[in-house]
Amino acid sequence: MTTQPPVRIAPADGKLGVLLPGLGAVSTTFIAGVEAVKSGLAAPIGSLTQLATVRLGKRNEGRTPLIRDFVPLAALHDLEFGAWDIYEDNAYEAARKAAVLDPALIERVRQPLEKIHPMEAVFDRSYVRRIIGPNVKEARTKMEKAAILMDDIRQFRERTGVARCVMVWCGSTEVFHRPSAVHQSLKAFESGLAANDPDIAPSQIYAYAALKSGIPYANGAPNLSVDTPALLELARDMNLPVCGKDFKTGQTLMKTMIAPGLKARMLGMTGWFSTNILGNRDGEVLDDPGSFKSKEETKLSVLDQILQPQLYPQLYGNLFHSVRINYYPPRGDAKEGWDNIDIFGWLGYPMQIKINFLCRDSILAAPLVLDLVLFLDLAHRAGMRGIQEWLSFYFKAPMHAPDIYPEHDIFIQLMKLKNTLRWMRGEDLITHLGLEYYD
Ligand SMILES: NC(=O)c1ccc[n+]([C@@H]2O[C@H](COP(=O)([O-])OP(=O)(O)OC[C@H]3O[C@@H](n4cnc5c(N)ncnc54)[C@H](O)[C@@H]3O)[C@@H](O)[C@H]2O)c1
Repeated sequence: MTTQPPVRIAPADGKLGVLLPGLGAVSTTFIAGVEAVKSGLAAPIGSLTQLATVRLGKRNEGRTPLIRDFVPLAALHDLEFGAWDIYEDNAYEAARKAAVLDPALIERVRQPLEKIHPMEAVFDRSYVRRIIGPNVKEARTKMEKAAILMDDIRQFRERTGVARCVMVWCGSTEVFHRPSAVHQSLKAFESGLAANDPDIAPSQIYAYAALKSGIPYANGAPNLSVDTPALLELARDMNLPVCGKDFKTGQTLMKTMIAPGLKARMLGMTGWFSTNILGNRDGEVLDDPGSFKSKEETKLSVLDQILQPQLYPQLYGNLFHSVRINYYPPRGDAKEGWDNIDIFGWLGYPMQIKINFLCRDSILAAPLVLDLVLFLDLAHRAGMRGIQEWLSFYFKAPMHAPDIYPEHDIFIQLMKLKNTLRWMRGEDLITHLGLEYYD
């Protein structure tokens, strides 16, 4: 089923700037990882853009190129990093403190990491309550702060000579807020910036500055950030792609792999209890109930959307779902997650599944940052704008059009992602019908 001729995609010429609000565990694991891969010290495990293939045409054609040979992606050697943080540590010091990677590996990439000094952050303690740092911008209004951020971006572009940029929010999770009047239109938002409206979060000031500067934006945290009518209007006006929210790692990754399987076999579920211990800075921020509420919302919505209790009340109409995160410093970034799943089968007989995932949060998140950077840049060069639903694969709470529900099933998400790549290159979309093999 050929849909259309290939989409015109501008070549990935020149360097690509990667702008990261937040230079913590995820950002430094991502940057150090890219440097390690560039030097041949380690492999980019977990990254589709670096490792995955895409099947083209029929199953007997034997065409399965690497994704990076199929679509024109920026090369790792062309990435230039910039970041903002409330702490003054450079990326080497921040990576040491995050303690995700072995000190020996960090030493091997020390030189490029030491060159990355965080720019002063736009920060507001009413949005992230548990941390405080000295590297913060002072200005009278939120609009002035946005202007200084745009100036930071201009200087970064001049300093590094990058041809294009992408911004990915890797800052702390902000406290839970629903969109308010100030988020309903770009006009209201800009008035709000000038009037210091308390409903405008720092991450929204970064998103505004990025979009005004012609830069695509991805949100790795669960807070709203770019997911408001005002900023989506700006993304459309500027022809820029955006995506979010909340990197899909750890327990939710497991949920979106296992729940679709149980549902596919029409097995019922009465309960899913999830609890975690983690001891990194993210865990400390999430110890605040306001920030945890943002996380809880994204984590809880997943099962409901996958299991569709409204369609299957007999199987999922009575499901008890609970998610806990416990801050436990001795564990650092090496999170431990427990899941207890109460299911039932034929004639209603109960069974249980236990999952004990000894994971590493930032090791799971870093390849997602890389893929999002490269795919968002690709989308931009392909002229795609607004919400990039094909990147839902990477998020716990995928942004979506207002009149549809988000797709959480990771296998549907992957099919959508690969079909979007096929569509870009004018290849047949794959439906998996396959009757022709048996004619
Ligand atoms: N690690 C994962 O697996 C994972 C998964 C999903 C989502 N996330 C989210 O990604 C984000 C980063 O996670 P992390 O583990 O790196 O956390 P982290 O605490 O190590 O790093 C976040 C950094 O952001 C900085 N920061 C906070 N507010 C800022 C602001 N306004 N401007 C600039 N910097 C700011 C903090 O000082 C900190 O250094 C968090 O929101 C987290 O919830 C992480």
